Amino acid sequence: MEKEFNPFLVSGYRGAKYFCDRESETAVIKKNINNNINTTLFAIRRTGKTGLLHHVFETYAKNTKVACVYVDILSSVNLKEFTNQLATVIYNRFPENQGIGKKVIQAIKLLRPLISFDTLSGSPELSFELGETKQYEKTIQQLFSFLDSQNKKIIFAIDEFQQILEYPEKNTEAILRTHIQTLKNTNFIFCGSNQKMMHEIFNSAKRPFYASCSNLHLDFINPDKYAEFIWRIFAEHKRKINKQSIDLIINFTSCHTFYTQYFCNYLFASGIKNIELTDVQKTAIEILQLNESTFFQYRNLLTNAQWQLLHAISKEEKLYKAHSNSFLSKYRLGTSSMVSRGIEALLEKEMIFYNTSVGNSYYETYDKFLMRWMQHK
Ligand SMILES: Nc1ncnc2c1ncn2[C@@H]1O[C@H](COP(=O)(O)OP(=O)(O)OP(=O)(O)O)[C@@H](O)[C@H]1O
Ligand SMILES: [Mg+2]
Repeated sequence: MEKEFNPFLVSGYRGAKYFCDRESETAVIKKNINNNINTTLFAIRRTGKTGLLHHVFETYAKNTKVACVYVDILSSVNLKEFTNQLATVIYNRFPENQGIGKKVIQAIKLLRPLISFDTLSGSPELSFELGETKQYEKTIQQLFSFLDSQNKKIIFAIDEFQQILEYPEKNTEAILRTHIQTLKNTNFIFCGSNQKMMHEIFNSAKRPFYASCSNLHLDFINPDKYAEFIWRIFAEHKRKINKQSIDLIINFTSCHTFYTQYFCNYLFASGIKNIELTDVQKTAIEILQLNESTFFQYRNLLTNAQWQLLHAISKEEKLYKAHSNSFLSKYRLGTSSMVSRGIEALLEKEMIFYNTSVGNSYYETYDKFLMRWMQHK
């Protein structure tokens, strides 16, 4: 029997039907685009940044005057690889037999890239063998300006943008900023999963991108909207689920997009037609058991003191006062400076995040399943 499509996605984007809310954020990005303003998208990990980029793109799918280009640069380690990825996505984005495709392909070929084929997907990959950084800079400029001159609005989303800080070419930010500034028909959306590095690039007064974009903060999805979405998707697939069960899912996963999606995906896959609260409780336990080996791996990556601190933060769920006597003594965490060092390390390893988007900032464990698992230990 063919496996039923699981409508709760845990990777990729499959259209507005399977995408919950994000209406106001979509509107803000589109307004920026209409006004020729570049956007920087800030959010903690796994809230749905990449999904939102594709959701915005989908709204332009039938608009022949707009072309959207998406590039994820996480795997690039230097300017050469950045240039190769840029050329590859542009080459693959505009098929030769459609629209401006022919012109794009001819223009790229003039830059003399080597064209190979990915062994898994079979799609073309471009690479340049140029001597110096300057030549890569020139190629980037040529790629951007060529697209910019095509009488189309180009929307360029660069995902995992913080990766440029890892390049040995320390002037990458300046290079990109200089060329981006000169474009007339191209708008950028910069997005990244490492908040600290993204803030460094865009909010530090000494750096090239400072104050050059409109910042958009992506928060968690509104729980009521998420509840309605979950109910609708189950109903459309002839499943029944009551409000109490949905509330438990949202609560258990703290409405953190990836974890809520994962939970619903798992529950959907169980095939239960009439979902009761006990089914949701059973699913929660199963998910924690399934992930236990990952939790033990986390433990191996941390010192004992860091693990104890993570445990304490998980138990608190939201930790508002990390240095209060009551927190230190409740979990026997030693001195305030020991906790400071521990928090630094846990933030660095992305085991916790600091939520500053609310009035009263707090620390919270990133992995919602690890958090629930620790709360039961
Ligand atoms: N609004 C949404 N409705 C339903 N599912 C969503 C929504 N946003 C994201 N998702 C799903 O949640 C998962 C995580 O989303 P996504 O990868 O977009 O997050 P991210 O913030 O880019 O994560 P990372 O920080 O790891 O890059 C994906 O499986 C995606 O399909
Ligand atoms: Mg992402």
